[in-house]
Amino acid sequence: MEFCNRLELWYLGNKRDLPWRKNKEAYQVWLSEIILQQTRVAQGMSYYFKFLEAFPTVNDLANAPEEEVLKLWQGLGYYSRARNLHFSAKYIVSDLKGVFPKSYKELLALKGVGDYTASAVASICYNEEVAVVDGNVYRVLSRCFGISTAINSSKGIKQFKELAQELLPAKTPGNYNQALMDFGSLQCKPANPLCETCPLNDICIAYASNKITELPFKEKKIKIRNRYFNFVVLNSADGKTVLEQRIGKGIWENLFQFPLIETNSEIEANELIENSEYLSLTKGSNLSLKLYNPKVWVHKLSHQHLFVKFWVVNGDFQNEELICWKTVHKFAVPRIIHKFLEEFYSNHEKKEESLLES
Ligand code: ADE
Repeated sequence: MEFCNRLELWYLGNKRDLPWRKNKEAYQVWLSEIILQQTRVAQGMSYYFKFLEAFPTVNDLANAPEEEVLKLWQGLGYYSRARNLHFSAKYIVSDLKGVFPKSYKELLALKGVGDYTASAVASICYNEEVAVVDGNVYRVLSRCFGISTAINSSKGIKQFKELAQELLPAKTPGNYNQALMDFGSLQCKPANPLCETCPLNDICIAYASNKITELPFKEKKIKIRNRYFNFVVLNSADGKTVLEQRIGKGIWENLFQFPLIETNSEIEANELIENSEYLSLTKGSNLSLKLYNPKVWVHKLSHQHLFVKFWVVNGDFQNEELICWKTVHKFAVPRIIHKFLEEFYSNHEKKEESLLES
């Protein structure tokens, strides 16, 4: 078919040289696909190398402690992907005797593997005829075939999977799936697609009807919840702070954070110092309180927007849970705390160094 032939021809000249394409080892391809669900290729590459270096085989990943896996994942966010990756590695080693699943159906049985990942691994590694449908594929197909069904509706999901499956060439499913994904990221980009030089522009319905910016179409349906987080960053005179572990379900399960006071709206210092949780945390003398980020940081998750303030409290605390700042980097923390630490703690270290020098 014209569409597929042109796409594969385009791929011959434009294929990205990606490390997981060098061999078709299922463990490596699985790892890359899970990472790429979370980030772009450019950023994902360094995570891929770090993971492969730490865990060269599925056996190594299975035998690693969870904290080590989460630590390596740090910066990517959405830690349940890392937990599922680890869980599935353990399942492969213990229940499947270390033999990686060899078909779409078996791959689907892994935790954290849905239609997308199972199709990608099965087609790339085992040449199974299963079509991949990711954001790139939705974009290319909706534009080229002029389909305006919402890609986040059950009707749309079914329609696009069926079309992708119909188009899939029997001989080269893995190659073709990757061609479609690369084409979506490099040529048929979300914003400013390169239509003038596109090898499909004479058959692209969206291009002909000037609908490129309208497709793919997505229904807006989720209700976003706003939450107001106040992290209390204790900073004792002898270089210590407090981190606590989040327990229970919900965001950031089991990760570490500064003691958190959640409020119904943004608060200022005068309200914070009257808060009972704050008072029990800061039982110390000579306190000084400073808001680290006068402009609140907004952290957007799929269903919630977090409005985050970091309150730094200097003082000589008597808290049994105090830990040295130097050990803080060993804890797996949410991305927003990682960002805070990168700014705050590196400044803090520099100040200490200059004090030592002077
Ligand atoms: N994005 C995610 N997986 C990909 C792959 N295998 N090829 C190109 N882009 C991708």
